[in-house]
Amino acid sequence: MHIFLTGASGFLGTVLLRDLLLKGHTITALVRAKFGTDAHSRLREALLDYDPSFPYDQAMGRTLFVVEGSATQGNFGLDEKSYSLYAQRSDIILHNVACTALETDWSIYEEVNIGGTRKAIEFAFHTRRKALVYVSSAYVAGARTGLVLENELDTSVSFRNSYERSKAMAENEVRIAASSGNIQTMILRPSIIIGDSQTGWMCEEHHFFDFIRRLSWILRLIRNRTGSAEITADHRFRIPGDPRTTKNFIPVDHVAKLISILVETDAAWGKTFHLTHPEPISLKTLEKYVQKSLYWPELTWCPKEEIRELSSLERRFLRSIQIYERYFWQEPSFDQDQLKSVLGANLPEPDALSQEFVSRMVRFVQNKSIRKEKLRKEISRSHEAAAIVKPAAS
Ligand SMILES: NC(=O)c1ccc[n+]([C@@H]2O[C@H](COP(=O)([O-])OP(=O)(O)OC[C@H]3O[C@@H](n4cnc5c(N)ncnc54)[C@H](OP(=O)(O)O)[C@@H]3O)[C@@H](O)[C@H]2O)c1
Repeated sequence: MHIFLTGASGFLGTVLLRDLLLKGHTITALVRAKFGTDAHSRLREALLDYDPSFPYDQAMGRTLFVVEGSATQGNFGLDEKSYSLYAQRSDIILHNVACTALETDWSIYEEVNIGGTRKAIEFAFHTRRKALVYVSSAYVAGARTGLVLENELDTSVSFRNSYERSKAMAENEVRIAASSGNIQTMILRPSIIIGDSQTGWMCEEHHFFDFIRRLSWILRLIRNRTGSAEITADHRFRIPGDPRTTKNFIPVDHVAKLISILVETDAAWGKTFHLTHPEPISLKTLEKYVQKSLYWPELTWCPKEEIRELSSLERRFLRSIQIYERYFWQEPSFDQDQLKSVLGANLPEPDALSQEFVSRMVRFVQNKSIRKEKLRKEISRSHEAAAIVKPAAS
């Protein structure tokens, strides 16, 4: 198939792009230029960062085409002729772009998450074959508890943040477009996407990466303060959260694998799927794995009543992760009946979130942070050297 992919430069997009190419599909990736780097270089860098052995240059111009533009602009920022050409060439538009920050100005969600989805719908309507795959989120269920069915969507529930609300509103746009009968759609709802199950690879902007990095910073701070690498019982560190709550984490490679199977499955059209883990992990188990990976045995969840008693360092950490804390108290369970009935024996099992997997992700975050710190120091040393040799202004 010829697939027009948006959001290919992001966390899921990169892995998805690789999988779809490896399955023999032809991809046109819509990528924006950013920070002075053109779309082509950005995509190359992202893909090779995930899979350094990927034959990117061989695919370029044969099965991979990069279009510089933006999902939020009219005609994706392309001229009318190119826009029509891409729309006619593509069998499917796979719309994956979103602003994934959990809290920012509503106008950004309106422009990117809701507006961008409308632009993707317009693109799908532009052609004879009208097929749109939309990457939504399991958290369109908001702060609901209990069992959430794949067909359900209620935009009036209470949401933990504006990101969830905007994704629910965007999914609703896709459902309205589908109800016209003039467009084929598939809605995919991943839960919290975590690193690659084999390598732990994650995008640096990603929430789980950010959480682990912040924990590692605090740990370093404690070690620097005590002057000892060993953390003792005196260094109990509490994060508010209910250890009985589950968290539905799903490896990025598993989400990409499921999507690449679903787009090839005729029976999947017209349906919504929870791309979630059938066995979510409890916060208690996660605590155990993180403790071991960070060599921090006194890291623990604490009840709401203890928030008042937190130390200044614990409070400081809590403030820095406030946007995630809302997810530490409850989570619904995500039904997968539709996914099971459509894929049957072809439904792959995701890897369990084991101690080894968590340790792999923690190591990945720490190695990446060390490399970045080294680079920062090198740059600052070279700036200092340049300042020394620079002649004083007369
Ligand atoms: N990560 C999760 O845990 C999770 C869970 C459930 C659902 N999802 C959904 O999965 C999809 C991919 O998420 P992700 O984690 O891969 O996100 P991501 O890493 O933040 O990637 C988002 C993609 O959207 C593009 N984008 C963002 N703002 C844009 C704008 N203003 N104009 C044009 N492009 C823009 C980004 O392009 P640039 O590279 O140019 O910024 C990037 O390619 C999203 O729809 C998200 O809602 C994610």
